[in-house]
Amino acid sequence: MKPGRSILSVPGHMDKMHWKAAASAADIVMLDLEDSVPADKKIIAREIVANALLTLDWKGKTLALRINSLDTPFAYKDVIQVIEAAGQAINFIVIPKVSHAGDIHFIARLLDGIEMEKKFHQPIAIEAAIETAAGLEQVTSIARADRRLRSLSFGIADYTASIGAKLTSISGHGDDEVELYPGHRWHYPMSRMVMAAKAHGLLAIDAPFGNFKDPRGLKKSAAMAAALGCDGKWVIHPDQIEIVNKTFSPAPEEIGRAKQILDAMTVAGPSGAIAVNGQMVDLATARLAKRVWDQARQLGLTE
Ligand code: COA
Ligand code: MG
Repeated sequence: MKPGRSILSVPGHMDKMHWKAAASAADIVMLDLEDSVPADKKIIAREIVANALLTLDWKGKTLALRINSLDTPFAYKDVIQVIEAAGQAINFIVIPKVSHAGDIHFIARLLDGIEMEKKFHQPIAIEAAIETAAGLEQVTSIARADRRLRSLSFGIADYTASIGAKLTSISGHGDDEVELYPGHRWHYPMSRMVMAAKAHGLLAIDAPFGNFKDPRGLKKSAAMAAALGCDGKWVIHPDQIEIVNKTFSPAPEEIGRAKQILDAMTVAGPSGAIAVNGQMVDLATARLAKRVWDQARQLGLTE
């Protein structure tokens, strides 16, 4: 599987930004038709996005399309027009504000038809954005709704609005919010979503950090998401890509320790717990070390 640490969101109507995104170091580029596109550009954005998908050199990146939410007049034609025109270049569709499994079924069936008609060889996958109270309540049935699902993503701004919580800033989590609430305010919804994703073999993706002039805040926010089990994070500005890629890659010390553990377990032969550098290592630790090692190898970080 290709890496999916950073997902760069690019407004669909801003063709100048599409070039920049194609040349960037983002693992995934998501061309957006939803909230970064003004109402009077919704229709033309479909054409601009399809054209960019087909003509730019994306340098092997995974490509995604975010459609408008299903409670708007735009969503169904977003799928039909853009997928018919450029579906062969799209790896997955992001459905915003998914509120129940029926939303996934609707898009999946629509894709079935378009793919048959256009004879696309590669099925288009789906990411469900969990960003409403209704969506979080239904997250388990959403996660198992269809085999096209690849990931769930947490949309912090819409989720905050949906539950009527006080929004301290546009940056979302990672801010210094201790005055407002002790601990991590978004721990429950994120962990709940991560659990549903992982129980059904899906990736879990974190919301973007809105303040693109605050690298420290971004780093903290990404590190917290990684600690909660997220596999990657949306970014909204090219300056955020490097930090997010780094945070979701194993650090050299982690890779070294994973190798040490795996080597020690090999030398010990079939055994339960052993000591490595004064720390207990057992089969569960070895499985964690293997995950780190595999990810490092996939990213080309091992010698
Ligand atoms: N993708 C590709 N290129 C981007 C980009 C993005 N998301 N955001 C900024 N850039 C480009 C700019 O076009 C600019 O290019 P230039 O140097 O060739 O002129 C460069 O990066 C520097 O941008 P900067 O001037 O710092 O920011 P800005 O004021 O132009 O834009 C935002 C700031 C927030 C409006 C912009 O980053 C943006 O639209 N982000 C995406 C928002 C989005 O997708 N929201 C929905 C998902 S939550
Ligand atoms: Mg949203």
